[in-house]
Amino acid sequence: MPICPEYPESGAPPGKSVAIFETFRHHGFVWWLVGVLSREKRSMRTSLFAVVATLLFSVAVVSATLMTAAINPPIARAQDTAQRQYVGNSKCKICHNKPSEGEQWTKWKDSKHSHAYELLSSDEALQVAKKIGLKTKPNETPRCLGCHVTGYNTETKSAPADIKLEDGVQCESCHGPASEHLKDGKKLMMMKDRSGFDVYAHILKPDEKTCRTCHNDKNPTYDPKRYKLEDGTTADFDFKQAYAKIAHPNPKHEKKDQ
Ligand code: HEC
Ligand code: HEC
Ligand code: HEC
Ligand code: HEC
Repeated sequence: MPICPEYPESGAPPGKSVAIFETFRHHGFVWWLVGVLSREKRSMRTSLFAVVATLLFSVAVVSATLMTAAINPPIARAQDTAQRQYVGNSKCKICHNKPSEGEQWTKWKDSKHSHAYELLSSDEALQVAKKIGLKTKPNETPRCLGCHVTGYNTETKSAPADIKLEDGVQCESCHGPASEHLKDGKKLMMMKDRSGFDVYAHILKPDEKTCRTCHNDKNPTYDPKRYKLEDGTTADFDFKQAYAKIAHPNPKHEKKDQ
């Protein structure tokens, strides 16, 4: 049993409770604890033990919770974002702008999608803003940017690092974040025979559902009669006609399909 050099009573046998507080005052918590443990009544030792045990248990529970949280969801999320990130249209241009293969980049650049952000600064957009009582500029309003800019997150109020607002609705709005496809693309460029390689492993093949994520009634300019159909009726969106306006097929693939 260690004894406080200046207050030897701190190590005195049970019963002699002299100098407990003196010990604490002059020599701090540890010596005080030594005194209590060596001297005080059993009940007091028990309750002290209970307090320490409860503390240790809470620390264990809290750290277990933190560790589970650290091991499970965040790592899973980190993998998702690390694996598929937005890279921006300039990357696609390098490989997808050959005239013989359909000039996808030029066709996109010439489409209205590439001007979707610009559109938010137009008089037309200001009219829309006025009509719905918007207090902020449309091109600075997350709600508008959410559909007029690729990957814009209306909660964090920001676009992915490699996405420029000015480029509006880019390739990855429809084909999904493409960082992993860039790796596939490099492999594919080296291959003579591409059969057996799933080109859509890390890139989306968009369909009507993809368009509907933006072409829907949350759009303040939504028009239920925007499209006239062949049978004389109208519709808010017609995939066939809309797709025809933005189509960028690879003629080599079309030949293969026939
Ligand atoms: C390093 C070159 C490279 C880059 C960069 C690249 N791709 Fe590809 N991509 C390819 C190759 C090669 C194929 C397979 C083409 C084929 O099968 O004829 C392909 C296939 C595709 C396909 C499937 C349809 C098809 O033609 O087979 C889509 C969609 C696609 N890429 C979109 C994109 C988008 C969007 C980007 C930019 C974010 C991009 N790619 C960047 C090389 C690339
Ligand atoms: C739910 C997605 C969505 C949201 C949110 C959205 N837009 Fe749009 N916006 C679109 C789509 C899709 C079009 C193209 C409609 C078409 O031509 O089929 C469009 C077109 C427009 C047009 C052109 C007029 C027209 O009818 O084509 C203006 C102007 C416009 N939006 C302004 C705004 C403003 C201002 C905001 C924010 C208050 C906003 N948009 C929010 C999806 C959206
Ligand atoms: C508005 C949505 C949208 C945008 C923006 C878009 N695409 Fe596409 N893309 C599609 C759709 C829809 C298809 C047809 C999918 C199918 O074959 O069913 C397609 C097909 C393709 C194909 C396959 C061509 C073929 O015939 O095999 C390539 C490659 C491609 N896109 C690349 C791009 C690139 C590169 C960009 C940007 C420069 C881009 N796309 C922008 C919707 C889009
Ligand atoms: C990320 C949101 C988004 C997605 C996804 C999207 N669009 Fe759009 N689209 C817009 C916005 C915003 C505009 C208005 C751009 C402008 O007028 O400058 C627009 C405009 C258009 C227009 C021009 C309408 C006109 O008046 O000529 C067509 C056509 C179109 N989209 C077709 C499609 C098709 C087909 C798909 C799916 C394959 C698609 N869009 C997916 C947001 C989107």
